[in-house]
Amino acid sequence: MSTVPQHRLLRTEIPGPRSQELQARKRAAVASGVGTTLPVYIERAGGGILVDVDGNQLIDFGSGIAVTSVGNSAPRVVEAVRDQVGDFTHTCFMVTPYEEYLAVCEALNELTPGTHAKRSALFNSGAEAVENAIKVARHATGRTAVIAFDHAYHGRTNLTMALTAKSMPYKHGFGPFAGEVYRAPMAYPYRWPTGPERCAEEAFAAFVEQVHAQVGETNVAAVIVEPIQGEGGFIVPAPGFLPKVADWCRQHGIVFIADEIQSGFCRTGDWFASEHEGIVPDLVTTAKGMAGGLPLAAVTGRAELMDAVHGGGLGGTYGGNPVACAAALAAIETMRAEDLNGAAKRIEAVMLPRLRDLAVTYDVIGDVRGRGAMLAVELVQGNGSTQPNPALTAQISAACHREGLVTLTAGTFGNVLRFLPPLVIGDDLLNEGLDIIEAALAAHA
Ligand SMILES: Cc1ncc(COP(=O)(O)O)c(C=O)c1O
Repeated sequence: MSTVPQHRLLRTEIPGPRSQELQARKRAAVASGVGTTLPVYIERAGGGILVDVDGNQLIDFGSGIAVTSVGNSAPRVVEAVRDQVGDFTHTCFMVTPYEEYLAVCEALNELTPGTHAKRSALFNSGAEAVENAIKVARHATGRTAVIAFDHAYHGRTNLTMALTAKSMPYKHGFGPFAGEVYRAPMAYPYRWPTGPERCAEEAFAAFVEQVHAQVGETNVAAVIVEPIQGEGGFIVPAPGFLPKVADWCRQHGIVFIADEIQSGFCRTGDWFASEHEGIVPDLVTTAKGMAGGLPLAAVTGRAELMDAVHGGGLGGTYGGNPVACAAALAAIETMRAEDLNGAAKRIEAVMLPRLRDLAVTYDVIGDVRGRGAMLAVELVQGNGSTQPNPALTAQISAACHREGLVTLTAGTFGNVLRFLPPLVIGDDLLNEGLDIIEAALAAHA
C-alpha cells in the first residue's frame, strides 16, 4: 500500500495559495486550450489520495481519467520503472527491439477476449491506438467506411475527432475532419424515446437500416464502439445491443473494434467491459489503466487482420517505450496479485446502492448507471423533467472540489457526474466521498 496517508485533510481553501500562484504561471506559460478541471497542483499521490502543494489531501474519484487504476506510484510499478530506467530508456522497437515489448503484447493477447490467435502493436496514446486500429481494419478489408456512434469519444487527433461525437470542446473549429466516418444511434436506455425495454432492439434496427441505406455494408471496414461509453456520459448500451452489432459485423465481413481505452483493465470488474456480454471483438484498443500512469496504448486483434499490414506500416518512434512497457507489466501483475477485478466489484457494491438511494431522495438524479468502478449519475431538471441539468452538475462538482473530493463530469449534455476511483481506494474514503456528494446535493439540488 501507498505511503501517502489515506485520509482527507484540508489545510487551506481549495485551490490553496500555492496552487493559485502556479495557476497564474500556467496562464502565462501554457496554451489556454489545455484546460484543467480542478487547478490544484499535485505533489504526491497514492491509494485514494492526492496531496497538493499546499498540503491538502484530496480524495481521488478520477484516477487521472481512469488511468491510475492500480493506484498512483503503485509499488510494483515504481520498482519496475526504476529498474528499467537504470537499464535503458529507449532504443526504438523498430530499430533494435527488447523483450519488454514482447511481454506486453503476449499479456494483451492472453487477456483480451477470445481464444483465437492474436497479435498486438504498441503506441503512446489512446487516440493513436484508435487511429491504428482503423488503419488495420481498412488495410485488411480493403474498404474505407467506418461507423461510430452517437455520444462516442475516441480522441482528439484528426481521424479520432471525426469519430468523436461531441462538438464543443473536442471538435469545434478544428475541421475539416477525416472522411468516410458515419454515425449511428447508440442504444442509450435512459433517453431512448420509446423507453429502455425497447431500446436494444430499436437502436439495432435503426443502426442496420442507416448503415444499409446511407453507407452500404460492403463499403464498411469497421464499426467502432466503447462497450461502456466514457466521455459521452458513461452510457451502458442496452443489454443485447452490442452482441447484435458484433454478430451483424461478422455476417458482413466488417471489423468490430471495441474501444476499451477507458473501460479496460479491471475498471468494470472484468479485464475488459466486452466480456460482460460475452463479446469477442476483432480488434481491441487499450491505453489508460494498462500502465499505472505511464503513456502506453495498444491495438490487439485477430492475427489475420493485424498481420495483413505490410512491414513498416505500423509503428512510431516511442510506441512501446521500454519504461512504459515495464510499468505495464508491473501494473498487470498488480491487477492479478491484488484481484483488482474483485476490487472494482467491491467499489460498485459500496457506491451503487448509495447512489441509488440518493436518486430516490433527489429527483434531479435521472439515472444511476455503470459497472464496477465506472459509475455515474445523470442530472436532470427534476419535477418529472428529464431535461439535462449541466448547471447543477457544474455546481455539485465545484462543491465537491471545495471539500477536497476530485470528481469529473462528462456527457454530451455536460450533465453527468462520473466516478472513477483508483481500484485500490479504501471503503472509508469511498463513503466519505459519497457523504460529500450527498451534502452537495442537499445544498444545491
Ligand atoms: C474510449 C476512449 N478512446 C480514446 C481515448 C483517447 O485517449 P488519449 O487521450 O490517450 O488519446 C479516450 C480518452 O479519454 C477514451 O476514453
